[in-house]
Amino acid sequence: MNLSSSNLERLLTTSDPVAVDDLYEEACRQRDAVYGRKVFMRGLIEVSSHCRNNCLYCGLRRDMKCERYRLSKEQILHCCRTGYGLGFRTFVMQGGEDGWMTDERVCDIVRAVKAEFPDCAVTLSLGERGRESFARLREAGADRYLLRHETADPAHYARLHPAEMRFEHRMQCLQDLRELGFQVGAGFMVGSPDQSIATLMKDLEFIDRFRPEMVGIGPFIPAAGTPFEHEPAGSVELTLRLLAIIRIMHPHVLLPATSALGTLHPQGRERAIRAGANVVMPNLSPQDTRALYSIYNNKLATGSEAAESAADIRARMKAIGMEVPTERGDYQGTKNQASVQ
Ligand code: 5AD
Ligand code: SF4
Repeated sequence: MNLSSSNLERLLTTSDPVAVDDLYEEACRQRDAVYGRKVFMRGLIEVSSHCRNNCLYCGLRRDMKCERYRLSKEQILHCCRTGYGLGFRTFVMQGGEDGWMTDERVCDIVRAVKAEFPDCAVTLSLGERGRESFARLREAGADRYLLRHETADPAHYARLHPAEMRFEHRMQCLQDLRELGFQVGAGFMVGSPDQSIATLMKDLEFIDRFRPEMVGIGPFIPAAGTPFEHEPAGSVELTLRLLAIIRIMHPHVLLPATSALGTLHPQGRERAIRAGANVVMPNLSPQDTRALYSIYNNKLATGSEAAESAADIRARMKAIGMEVPTERGDYQGTKNQASVQ
């Protein structure tokens, strides 16, 4: 498929349903050639809702006066045990940028999880840290790190974040993570305020250049009490097209069907898989803390048990002809060496 910038712009804006169907079909062909008809499950554990940052879009930003929590090591291990029994072989520990999550504490948790579940991958998603800190986490056994770049356009980045958050530092973190041997996840929201076709083209160029092992993209969803609470949500259709384009551009990428898509459309995650995605991330967090981890409104499965979210997502994937294997689901491409610039 032709991925010249003029064709990409056409694919993002066309109202021709045949062209869009062809795009999704080609994306699925590319995915199936690398990974087969498999959807990999990751167990999401929301480890802390404390955050020092003030991203304008996020319901957990520092200025939100909401009840916050953090999970203990024992609570996290308990989530992993439940998850392991349900067939999860990757645990994603995600949280805000919480100063309490020192290197020592995070390393201790990572070591404990790896010791008890040596056949599982540990993914961290704890925001920006220094290179030495990332090195310690890697040393402790963390395999992967998710840090969305949010937008590859520096001016747009400055529109979404307060001045103290620097685009250059974000990029430096992604570079450090790659150099330290993590499988790296980048990504962005679709439909964030002031996003345009031009900024999206920069996101696509960035992905084409850096070739992250994972790319998380989902629609922007306004969060009550944030500066963007009255902004419109992002488009499901545009998100699906971007997923398909990213798959075709980078056939080996691990591409989640995000909960944000499932929140905006009842079949959002199934549609993402049909557009070339191959990862789902059901929530393994304890039931009583889920509602407190509200990065945006009406987040999926807020009141359900781990087993319930896992069974629901498995059934949904099987219903569209996909297998859900009990495997780590590692990146299958050759090691990417590209740098952010
Ligand atoms: N809508 C959609 N996604 C959001 N994120 C944060 N706030 C929102 C929102 N309101 C995404 C960001 C962040 C990830 C953890 O969640 O891209 O990196
Ligand atoms: Fe904190 Fe992440 Fe929310 Fe930004 S997006 S405010 S870093 S939790």
